[in-house]
Amino acid sequence: MKLNNKKVVVFGGTSGIGLATIKLLLKGGASKVYAISRNPNKVKIKKKKLILETADVLDEASLKKLFKKIGNYDVLISTATGGERAIGPFLTMNMRGYRDSFDKLWGYANVVRHGVKKLKKNGNVVLVSGSPARRPKPGFVAISSTGGAVEAFVRAITLELAPVRINLISPGVIDTPMSPLKGKARKDFYKNATKENIIKRAGTADEVAKAIIFAIENEFITGTTIDIDGGWILS
Ligand SMILES: NC(=O)c1ccc[n+]([C@@H]2O[C@H](COP(=O)([O-])OP(=O)(O)OC[C@H]3O[C@@H](n4cnc5c(N)ncnc54)[C@H](OP(=O)(O)O)[C@@H]3O)[C@@H](O)[C@H]2O)c1
Repeated sequence: MKLNNKKVVVFGGTSGIGLATIKLLLKGGASKVYAISRNPNKVKIKKKKLILETADVLDEASLKKLFKKIGNYDVLISTATGGERAIGPFLTMNMRGYRDSFDKLWGYANVVRHGVKKLKKNGNVVLVSGSPARRPKPGFVAISSTGGAVEAFVRAITLELAPVRINLISPGVIDTPMSPLKGKARKDFYKNATKENIIKRAGTADEVAKAIIFAIENEFITGTTIDIDGGWILS
């Protein structure tokens, strides 16, 4: 599917990977791009074709209202984390934090359930999982379980959604506002987090956004996961 003149809805389009994606969508000729999150005012880009909307992916009533307002459209993307994810060893972790990490899955389930009704039949969906889903490391049990559930969710609904296509992008360590660290602490964090990867650096939001655009444009893929991970899976 060509981006030209397409109407695209991006949950999480206000930061990091989602924000990089809306920039590529606008550059690629999309006619209308909705960037949606709980606090969309952090987006400083002013463009006629960019519409900022406020919604929480965990709030089904507000999603229903929003999709009614948007009407028919071509592409549904969600990069929304949904909430906080627990990090740390399983045996001592806070179980509430572990359970809450699954908000990512419920957010994706909500946007797909309410969003595909107005999605055109030749349209497609792109969601985001993460490398720990298939290559966990110590301390990543919550992220790994959630990512695994998201990947299983996408495979499970692919046949039901057809002819609408749905694909996943699976990033490794990506330098985005998800990490609040600044200066040297930030540099050290990404250096340490990627030291065992084949490509020893954090990826950029733009590198992941390019894969999202690929999944939109390539009409011969559905139900698949594309790794953008600097070799995390093999390291
Ligand atoms: N960065 C990485 O290293 C990395 C690695 C693997 C996977 N990922 C995945 O990639 C995706 C994007 O991550 P990112 O790094 O771009 O993160 P980010 O910069 O923190 O962006 C997350 C976006 O999700 C929105 N959001 C979060 N909860 C929401 C909710 N309940 N309802 C609506 N919007 C919500 C946020 O906006 P508001 O706060 O305004 O709602 C924000 O726009 C996530 O699914 C993440 O798990 C990231």
